[in-house]
Amino acid sequence: MAIDQSFLDELTARSDIVDVVSRYVSLKKSGSNYFGLCPFHNEKSPSFSVSQDKQIFHCFGCGVGGGVISFIMRAEGLEFYDAVSFLAKQNGMTVPENNYDKKTSKSRERLLALMKDTARFYYSELWKPENINVQQYFAKRGLTRKTMNRFGLGFAPNSFFATMDAMKEKGYTQDELLACGLVAKSEKGNLYDKFRNRVMFPIFDLRGNVIAFGGRVMDDSKPKYLNSPETAIFHKSRNLFAIEKARKTTNDYFILAEGYMDVIALHQAGFDSAVASLGTALTEEQARLIARYTKNIIISYDADNAGQMAAQRAIDILKKSGLNVRVLRIPNAKDPDQFIKEKGSDAFRRLIEQSSDDIAYKINNIASKFDLEEDQDRISFLKEAAYILALIDSDIEREIYTTRVANMAKISPQSMTVEVKNALQKRNQSLKKEKRREVRSVTQNAQPKDKSFKYENITSARSEEGILSVIFGDNTLVSYLNGKISPDDFTSPILKAFFIHALELYNNNKNITIPAFEGHFEPEALSLLTTITSRPVPAMREKALDDYINKIKSCKLKQSDSTTDPLLALAKAKKEKKFWR
Ligand code: UTP
Ligand code: MN
Repeated sequence: MAIDQSFLDELTARSDIVDVVSRYVSLKKSGSNYFGLCPFHNEKSPSFSVSQDKQIFHCFGCGVGGGVISFIMRAEGLEFYDAVSFLAKQNGMTVPENNYDKKTSKSRERLLALMKDTARFYYSELWKPENINVQQYFAKRGLTRKTMNRFGLGFAPNSFFATMDAMKEKGYTQDELLACGLVAKSEKGNLYDKFRNRVMFPIFDLRGNVIAFGGRVMDDSKPKYLNSPETAIFHKSRNLFAIEKARKTTNDYFILAEGYMDVIALHQAGFDSAVASLGTALTEEQARLIARYTKNIIISYDADNAGQMAAQRAIDILKKSGLNVRVLRIPNAKDPDQFIKEKGSDAFRRLIEQSSDDIAYKINNIASKFDLEEDQDRISFLKEAAYILALIDSDIEREIYTTRVANMAKISPQSMTVEVKNALQKRNQSLKKEKRREVRSVTQNAQPKDKSFKYENITSARSEEGILSVIFGDNTLVSYLNGKISPDDFTSPILKAFFIHALELYNNNKNITIPAFEGHFEPEALSLLTTITSRPVPAMREKALDDYINKIKSCKLKQSDSTTDPLLALAKAKKEKKFWR
């Protein structure tokens, strides 16, 4: 915890969650809770609730939840510390600096300084006369010196120690180099530079700090790119390449490309709102980040199959964040970089103008699989297209596209409308089924939504969850658990951590509430805890606790019976008269 707890307590006391959430979501009171449309996923009927008593929010639909600080973290896309400052400012409070606080923010600053110095080092290496071949590599790829400087491009020398030594010389420690992912550890425990003989692309955060690198080989060797690992300052799924530049654009659209080189080529050609996800499939967090700056996004992925598949996926993710999506097709070329190099920026601008919206794109994709002069193909095309058309929510839009599809296959719009109506009916039926399944899965599927919290032992974890929800409902019952169960009996690491924190709060005479967990756990963990503790609690609580404890203990027995406990294994072997003389 970086910030003084008593300050946090006062801050949360002053920031009523209903007031804060109301600035983002229109809430209606119903019973003791407030309800509205969840701002974190796309929905049409409200499953997002806010409790003034408990000072928590929780969405039954997507499972997010937490206190007022985690709400701001999610809504504003801020880290914990920044979310606290954000709320403090609104309340005319200043975040106090205590020693611990200084230490952690100092260590973060140190890591950022190290990354910046490393970027400078790579830059100076690039422009050394002996590295003319590297400079020529970029020149051959059509980059001007101005562009290279704007993107802070550099070169990691072909050495296992050069970067490390240069940074140690500047006073950085081995631990700091490791924490930044700039060095790796060999099996023997020796440290060596991770990036060697690669051209280097720094990745910046929104404020312009260097937080990671991508490094490319200059030939055909593999892997083509090496990227920084996840670190304290770099979260791949939350960042986008060149977002710090694109956010300043005057364009009313962003371009989403696949690669570093595509983005750089686009910026050089004057398209200064291009970004790329960082070598992985686009995430919802990245889509929300884009939606903070623009309403319109043009997907410009590679023309190959993989690129087109990725585009299909990206469409849905981007639409979830409320963006208008268009998809650009690059004819006779691999990627935007190559296209601009061959045809120039005016030609690319025309591609933007000709880009199709997401529905037209999907329909064209289907059409390209068939020969629309052939009757059988036309039928197949119409059937598949009907399903896409049935997915359109707006009646007007659906009608327009239905007519267009009918014209493509040269049939009457009327008969196409009938086809779409059928598909629509099927869709509504399966939606209903899915809803029913969802309702069932909430009660049946015991695994957390977030896969990183997956329970190894579901039976035990369900009881561990039960204990947490009972003591959240009635804090005094912690004393009832005394001597009956300990955190070490828990099988799920995250539930164990919750339990430990709850005991700590109790021992310090603090209330066990969701807000008291904020800052100690990531927002994803708080969502899980909110989900667990929002479930109804059994009426006979002490009896319920006894049941939970017995379940956990018997799971533990079963577990050790079969595997770990040597004494039990011995006893079992004895019984079976094996190995026993
Ligand atoms: P591309 O192979 O399309 O790269 O991969 P590119 O940027 O167009 O590079 P050039 O034009 O061949 O130089 C797209 C993105 O996928 C990630 C990188 O972020 C790359 O920019 N990637 C690719 C990796 O992370 N690792 C790899 O080995 C390959
Ligand atoms: Mn490329």
